[in-house]
Amino acid sequence: MHTILAIESSCDETSASVVSDGKIRSNIIATQDIHKQYGGVVPELASRAHEKNIVPVVQQALEKANITKQQLDAVAFTQGPGLLGALLIGNCFAKGMAMALNIPLIGVNHMEAHINAHFIAENKPEFPFLCLTVSGGHTQIVLVTDFGKFEILGETIDDAVGEAFDKTAKLLNLPYPGGPLIDKMAKNGNSKAFIFSIPEVPDFNFSFSGIKTSILYFIQKNTVQNPDFISENLADICASVQFTLVEILMRKLKKAAKQFHIKTIAIAGGVAANSELRKRIIEESEKNDWKYFIPDFEYCTDNAAMIAISAYYKYNNKDFVWLDAVPNARMAIGT
Ligand SMILES: Nc1ncnc2c1ncn2[C@@H]1O[C@H](COP(=O)(O)OP(=O)(O)OP(=O)(O)O)[C@@H](O)[C@H]1O
Ligand SMILES: [Mg+2]
Repeated sequence: MHTILAIESSCDETSASVVSDGKIRSNIIATQDIHKQYGGVVPELASRAHEKNIVPVVQQALEKANITKQQLDAVAFTQGPGLLGALLIGNCFAKGMAMALNIPLIGVNHMEAHINAHFIAENKPEFPFLCLTVSGGHTQIVLVTDFGKFEILGETIDDAVGEAFDKTAKLLNLPYPGGPLIDKMAKNGNSKAFIFSIPEVPDFNFSFSGIKTSILYFIQKNTVQNPDFISENLADICASVQFTLVEILMRKLKKAAKQFHIKTIAIAGGVAANSELRKRIIEESEKNDWKYFIPDFEYCTDNAAMIAISAYYKYNNKDFVWLDAVPNARMAIGT
């Protein structure tokens, strides 16, 4: 049996997880609440919070898994993409541990890990499959042909869909991160109450900056006429915006599935927690005879279990990094 400790510190979640032979034994996540006061992640504060959280989070992950440091066979960390200062904390901590315990070090790509979260469950997708990776910083349609073999078919040319959720929430005076709140409010709203146009973008790419601007103008115009417009229509606005954002995603996903003749479809990343997206994936799977894979909520937003499961496959391939490994804020998928 081999056991790996994995650390995730790419953004505003400090997380540690222990995996033994592909089975997740613990997944501890410390969310940094400090950013709520600023309406978004403040990189410098994220680094400091990681520095403070990392020792107790790792300790808890080991305790929950009921193992000692001496039982570890490797240490893994998120190498990129993400905030450089935040990545450095996890990177340096993992290096220190690997050096002290004299065990290998494994660097994991965060966006590949979001996709690899699908290999945590017993029921794993078969290759090839398409993964719609939707998070705070990325929106991609990825063709996955094997473990560690990824091809980006399309991606956003400007904002990520999670950003569109969060920025809309800000316009509606909802606290950060607003994505989950829009989802919650939308449950009591009419998704056809307001219509927002779908942008025309070639191939399998996405654009979310235009819709963000049209929502801004829509709110400004209506608030001039009625200062209580937002509070009186909050549920309908949330439902309509959510419907539009998910529609943009689904149109491109369906197009890619058709063109590449793929019937196994997965979603990953923080926005994969969205209830409208989950509902639409299930509906389209019935219509198109897709086999769909939706991760548990715990494995959608940032977590170290997805780093751990990625590290498990890398360990089997002896895919290690050296102690001079440095984080890469813009690390591309498949590199
Ligand atoms: N239920 C939900 N509905 C819509 N958006 C959601 C929901 N839950 C989380 N999100 C969004 O998911 C995003 C966070 O996801 P995640 O933690 O994967 O992103 P990130 O790590 O910041 O970005 P990346 O993984 O691209 O580096 C935020 O934008 C958040 O608003
Ligand atoms: Mg993420």
